Amino acid sequence: MNIVFISEEDTAPWKKALRRRLPEADVFFWGEGELDKAAMDYALVWKPEPGLVASFPNLKGIFNLGAGVDALLQDTTLPRNVPLVRLVDPRLSQGMVEYVVYWVVHFHRDMQIYARHKRVREWRQYRNADTAKRRVGILGLGELGTNCAHALLMLGFETVSGWSRTHKELPGVTSFAGKDALKPFLQQCEILVNLLPLTDATHRILDQAALDQLPEGAFVINAGRGATLDETALIEALNSGHLAGAALDVFATEPLPQDHPFWTMDTVFITPHIASLTSASSAADVIAKALRALEDGETPDNLVDWDQGY
Ligand code: NDP
Ligand code: OXD
Repeated sequence: MNIVFISEEDTAPWKKALRRRLPEADVFFWGEGELDKAAMDYALVWKPEPGLVASFPNLKGIFNLGAGVDALLQDTTLPRNVPLVRLVDPRLSQGMVEYVVYWVVHFHRDMQIYARHKRVREWRQYRNADTAKRRVGILGLGELGTNCAHALLMLGFETVSGWSRTHKELPGVTSFAGKDALKPFLQQCEILVNLLPLTDATHRILDQAALDQLPEGAFVINAGRGATLDETALIEALNSGHLAGAALDVFATEPLPQDHPFWTMDTVFITPHIASLTSASSAADVIAKALRALEDGETPDNLVDWDQGY
């Protein structure tokens, strides 16, 4: 079995992990010497150059090395008849849980206020809201959103809700589903966590009208994709005082341009798309399992739905 690996990421951990998990496979690293494109059975890819994947004529499966396939699906030449599997990996979920829990607790416990007070040597105590009553809402109740909801419930956040395309039955989580439910969902989110994939339907879904629905003084945490949020609308909502703060990991343009207003805003916390990074060792386990399912003629988990775009 021949696998081509296409990514700008450091290949050293992948070489080790794939050798260990798939000893029967020959893995070729794109850009590291000659390979016979027609002999490649599977492609492991992260943001390949458009047209490149289609130039491998005999692929039996394509594996995206991240959870989000928005960048990959921009490639109009990508073969639709080849199974496309996205990454669902316990380490990826754990990373996102840590990121989301960190910022929810940060805002819930007024840490942004104490950071400002420290700068002016002000000693002032605030009593934080009752954790059980703090209304946290998660946009996207898929793999990552569900894990984050569970972690928050375990921490004592008892008022967790989520919005998704289809209805969910998750103990302790209030499910809002479909377009019509977005407004009532947002209206009750004191802390909004965005974990939506970027698709035609979610592009700039958090626009001014949506942000206006959030309660006065709400917080926004965005770790899904930057383009699901109207950044200008967020800046206005923060500057007007309607929203109290934002923690942003993803941006419409990455790296975030040097002259972007977010850099100088006290109410905005920035991380450089690190909410959860793919771990080669853990991802290789998941990929090996899916690849063997394909080899055995089975349908692997986590196939991308082309019509929905995620
Ligand atoms: P999933 O596909 O498991 O979950 C996506 C969720 O979004 C589902 O609940 C889905 O609804 C919902 N959804 C999609 N479209 C709509 C819509 N139009 N209206 C309402 N709900 C919608 O994805 P993951 O949880 O694995 O990942 C989510 C995203 O997180 C990725 O696509 C990626 O962009 C981002 N990500 C960011 C990382 C970072 O480091 N910042 C790291 C990893 C991922 P339903 O359940 O009904 O299908
Ligand atoms: C992903 C990401 O989609 O890293 O996995 O953003």
